[in-house]
Amino acid sequence: MTRFCSFPKPTAILRHVLRVLIPVSIALTIYLYLYPVFGTCAFPLPPSSTSETSSPFLETAKSHWPPSFLANATATATNSSIPESPSAALPSKQAPFRLLTLGDPQLEGSTSIPIEYLGIFPHAKSLVRNFKLSRHGIKQALHDVVDILLEDTFNFLESVRKIIDLFGNDFYLAHIYRSVHWWTRPTHITVLGDLVGSQWLNEAEFTKRANRYWNRVFRGAEKMPESLQAYPAEEYDLSGYLSRFDNDTTWAKRIINVAGNHDIGYAGDLTSNLTARFEKAFGKINYELRFELPLPEGFDSKTLYDPDTNSESTRLIPELRLVVLNDMNLDTPALSTELQDDTYTFINNVINTAAAVEFEGHFTVILTHIPLYKPTGVCVDQPFFDFHSHDGTLKEQNQLSVAASKGFLEGILGMSGSATAPGGGKGRRGIILNGHDHAGCDTYHYVNQTAEGGEVEWQVKRWRQAVRDKAVGKEAEGVPGVREITVRSMMGDFGGNAGLLSIWFDEESWQWRAEYDTCPLGTQHLWWLVHILDFIAVVGIMVYVVCGALKVVGLDVDVLLLGSNKTGGKKKVNSVPAAKVLAGDMREEKAPAEQNSG
Ligand SMILES: *[C@@H]1O[C@H](CO)[C@@H](O)[C@H](O)[C@H]1NC(C)=O
Repeated sequence: MTRFCSFPKPTAILRHVLRVLIPVSIALTIYLYLYPVFGTCAFPLPPSSTSETSSPFLETAKSHWPPSFLANATATATNSSIPESPSAALPSKQAPFRLLTLGDPQLEGSTSIPIEYLGIFPHAKSLVRNFKLSRHGIKQALHDVVDILLEDTFNFLESVRKIIDLFGNDFYLAHIYRSVHWWTRPTHITVLGDLVGSQWLNEAEFTKRANRYWNRVFRGAEKMPESLQAYPAEEYDLSGYLSRFDNDTTWAKRIINVAGNHDIGYAGDLTSNLTARFEKAFGKINYELRFELPLPEGFDSKTLYDPDTNSESTRLIPELRLVVLNDMNLDTPALSTELQDDTYTFINNVINTAAAVEFEGHFTVILTHIPLYKPTGVCVDQPFFDFHSHDGTLKEQNQLSVAASKGFLEGILGMSGSATAPGGGKGRRGIILNGHDHAGCDTYHYVNQTAEGGEVEWQVKRWRQAVRDKAVGKEAEGVPGVREITVRSMMGDFGGNAGLLSIWFDEESWQWRAEYDTCPLGTQHLWWLVHILDFIAVVGIMVYVVCGALKVVGLDVDVLLLGSNKTGGKKKVNSVPAAKVLAGDMREEKAPAEQNSG
């Protein structure tokens, strides 16, 4: 007796799966590709001078309207070169300086793939090469076989996993850069060191990673032109102007790279070869950029400092100074004292060419890699130093020493614990940005000039705690300080973070102000999941379409897979009904009596 099988048709199963998979894939893909929008990422907004307040997110969304293709179309249609939209004529509400800060991408490569440095199945080669028919030879061969089975196979599988992982990781990082850059519209970009994952790369591998950095991860970005990487000088050219109208994108593609320990090594590894190849690929390790904010329309510049006409004023034309600093060899002992002297000379020049502490209107943004000293418990990393056993030079450090940290606070920023120091010890306004501690940390360094018992010492707290303790701002009279933001890494294990630093000018107090926010993507697993689901969905749709097309030309895939209704559930051999069925039919003919016995 022929039983009908109720097993559903394969194409029907596929249709049911796709019905669920396609909407899920589309939803997840939209989420992934618009994650800065769903995460309401935006550069912090300066407080509005008018009564109407706006949210940073809304302001960012507005800046995307009209979309560029529509704007271009209307521009060509009206054929006018004068911007017609009212927003182009009004100063932007956004901060004129918006720095996209990215920490420690650490591009890995061959150094983390076992087969790249061990070879593929190295013990198999040794087995073939060294095989001898002797007692010892056979014993050795057995050893090799065990190593092939356990060690080599494991290394091979691990390598395959790692190769796929690295390939995806580049695109994951690229996705962060592209998405956040598109949505938040920064004016400047910085990567705060550890661009590559190891300082021990040979030339070929270093070049490979530099190419991946520029052509895959930061595709579309540009290296800083050599002529703009300026050495601090008494008479300097401006690197550019900041725009009040938010229409200048000259700098929005140039990456300000900082050198990290994995790029050029710690003080004990640093050589001129390592710095030379870094500078060639990514830009100088020490330089400065200066940006001027044009004075507002109708501003009376007579109120500003002028050595001839108004030497009483302490107000300068608003200027942002970006100091890119290699702090890898600030601490001792360094392998090359010559390179260490270079760093110190650079810092001295930064100090000597800065405006005197009494002046207002300048702001120093220090971009470096290793964070300043902090006692255990403030951030994730705690103070840690390690030295090479062979020559005693500095092998590794989590933070700068107390002395080197003071160089930032009292040297570059000119702050002082003494209220009788020039400028009341308040120093120069600024902010310090760095990486290295992948977890990230937002802190405030300050010194209380009026502390009881003469305990005038540098202290550091988490930024939020410092705000709560009123160590920041107007209440903190006699407490000079600076915010230090250690930017959380953009690596997947740290949630694919991007930092958004806004700096704007407050005309009333003639001071720059800064605010910081973050835009995390989430771990790399989401990125993988979405792309794998999309891949499966696309393949599923293609198979479904092909099946449909075959059915039209008379080839029913369901029938091919399951057999016709008569032979439902029976197996097929080479798409031809199995011989057994034919034999059964023959038997039926010969012995009809059996038909009922079933
Ligand atoms: C600074 O010291 C004074 C005197 O001890 C104290 O009243 C004040 O709260 C301190 N300020 C901060 C921010 O610690």
